[in-house]
Amino acid sequence: MKVAFFDTKSYDVPGFDHYAADSGLEIKYFETRLNEDTASLAAGYDAVCVFVNDTVSAPVVDKLCQLGVKVLALRCAGFNNVDIKACRGRLPVYRVPAYSPYAVAEHAMALLLTINRRTHKAYIRTRDFNFSLQGLAGFDLHGKTIGIIGTGKIGRVFADICKGFGMKILAYDKYPNPDSGLTYVELPELFEQSDIISLHCPLTEETHHIIDASSIAKMKPGVTILNTSRGALINTEDLIAGIKDKKVGAACLDVYEEEGDFFYEDYSGHIVRDDKLVRLIAMPNVIVTSHQAFLTQEALDSIASTTVDNLVKFFSGNPNALTEVCYSGQ
Ligand code: NAI
Repeated sequence: MKVAFFDTKSYDVPGFDHYAADSGLEIKYFETRLNEDTASLAAGYDAVCVFVNDTVSAPVVDKLCQLGVKVLALRCAGFNNVDIKACRGRLPVYRVPAYSPYAVAEHAMALLLTINRRTHKAYIRTRDFNFSLQGLAGFDLHGKTIGIIGTGKIGRVFADICKGFGMKILAYDKYPNPDSGLTYVELPELFEQSDIISLHCPLTEETHHIIDASSIAKMKPGVTILNTSRGALINTEDLIAGIKDKKVGAACLDVYEEEGDFFYEDYSGHIVRDDKLVRLIAMPNVIVTSHQAFLTQEALDSIASTTVDNLVKFFSGNPNALTEVCYSGQ
């Protein structure tokens, strides 16, 4: 079975080659992303494998179906970049629902520690033999209140990490987990009481811009906002306004609303034309990472093994219901 693999990066290949060996899958790695312009590359392939910034819109789904592609394998958990309605009954979609919640939760804590204790600035200073501590003061995480929005796999691991730091945890989830031992509150209370807010819910119509001017208005002055989930959970304009007004004390963003145009590519020699992104990166109390929270060896290994397993099971007529997003006939 032939698989067209889009948006390939060098770190994807060893794991996928390893698990695909002797599986009956033949993978062609394309560097380009999947979108309306590139969908025709899937001609002659049985399966298409995509990542977070590939675009699987209705026209792309139509094109893939026309070309005879039988299955779409997402090598990620989120599926907000796929028009699931367009796929239903025509193109089965599989994903990797869990690979390493630790990878993402640990990155969220790494960002929080960095922005709070300014280790990124200290590192650059001492490399230049500048041993001044001016402007590097942070605050103790111990005793602070952290609001966690979304208490699924990643949110719960992150809550455990925060507990280890002696933080008080407030949680909000549309579907609270009574066995989690977490204290659930309504969103306005979480916004009002948290010193730090971390987003771990999926991007849906309901959660789109869950952080905007009206939610920021409810927050404590100086609040730190962490987003390792999906960019469009935050209204970027409103976040920038909140930082300029000094209502928001700091922001750590592993994801960004318009990241698809930039993330995973090297623009170091170019003029970046996204003024909001440039503005954020220029702010001293903002850290942007390039959607890298997932990037650990363990996660890459698990992504490759589950994706290959999904495809092998699909082609052997034994779909793995656990990883399926939608399946024709259901
Ligand atoms: P999960 O499905 O285990 O947990 C998501 C939680 O969000 C669930 O408890 C669910 O009830 C809750 N939720 C759903 N709708 C909600 C709403 N309207 N308000 C509040 N909570 C709501 O997912 P998991 O594995 O914990 O991943 C969370 C998110 O992290 C993913 O959706 C994805 O966007 C993001 N992610 C980011 C990565 C990165 O590299 N930055 C890597 C992997 C995931």
